[in-house]
Amino acid sequence: MSTEEISTVYGREEFKRVDVGAVMREGHPDISDGDHLIVDLVARKRETAGRPLTVMDVGSGSGVLSELIAQRLPDCRVIANEIAPNPARQARERLAAHPRAEVFTESFTDWKEPLDVIVSWGSHHHLPHSHLQHVRDLLEEGGVLILGDEFCPEYCTEDDAIRLKNAEVIELGGGHLLASREEIEEYRRSGTVPEWSRILEDRRRRTLWNWYKFVIDYAIERDRWQVAIAEMQITKDDMVTSFEEEHKLSPLIVEHELSVNGFEQAAKHVIGDRPAELQSFFVYEFVPGALPVGADGDR
Ligand SMILES: C[S@@+](CC[C@H](N)C(=O)[O-])C[C@H]1O[C@@H](n2cnc3c(N)ncnc32)[C@H](O)[C@@H]1O
Repeated sequence: MSTEEISTVYGREEFKRVDVGAVMREGHPDISDGDHLIVDLVARKRETAGRPLTVMDVGSGSGVLSELIAQRLPDCRVIANEIAPNPARQARERLAAHPRAEVFTESFTDWKEPLDVIVSWGSHHHLPHSHLQHVRDLLEEGGVLILGDEFCPEYCTEDDAIRLKNAEVIELGGGHLLASREEIEEYRRSGTVPEWSRILEDRRRRTLWNWYKFVIDYAIERDRWQVAIAEMQITKDDMVTSFEEEHKLSPLIVEHELSVNGFEQAAKHVIGDRPAELQSFFVYEFVPGALPVGADGDR
């Protein structure tokens, strides 16, 4: 049984037989719009390349997006990668009719073959931070990482942005953001978290609370109680600072995380048209670039 199944909401009995991916597309804002955007981005990549591509959907869940890609691009090899047994089985059933589609049920970091497109849709904040180095290793020349996620709406101030810009490393210590080697060392030595990180975490929680209230109301207004209940539990998981499996960060922080891991941002797309405090879904196109000097790239 995977860690995901043991520790997060979807391991609970009431979700065992539910196709969470399908249910979320009906009761959660922005996911379905994101699907369509990502399929368009992969199709554009296929057109530019002028040849069939190998595409991996990391953390594919029950394979809804993988199937949309396989339908749109039948000559491309589409690999749905999912470690949790229930969604992996659902993905296998969903993709059975698509001869060029398959399911890989080991961890993403165990995949060894080169890839043209790596899609990570709603998965980045669940994956170990070391997975970015593996993305770099697998991407073919001209390859792209399409990273779409539900972020915590932006909670960094301009001062935070300056601090992040100067950060040569970004790491979480017990859920608190650490942005220098000294801060990381001090945290490891004594468990001390800088005042700045505590203030940031307080803002993250308050911003998230506002977002989750919107998501839960959205589901209830549409009579999607399963989504509302799941999101109530996810809200609690995300509010626990040290709970690593569910820890949404702001777009700016993730952009810097990618930057210190040697990725260049080729495009940023916003999903939904709402005020900034309710703007959670973004889809990025990242390409491997040079690693910053001194970066180890595999934190
Ligand atoms: C929020 S779900 C993603 C939803 C999905 N992409 C969709 O479109 O419906 C994140 C998924 O990542 C999977 N996951 C977590 N760690 C993984 C790993 N190391 N390798 C592959 N999948 C992983 C989890 O089991 C979970 O199903």
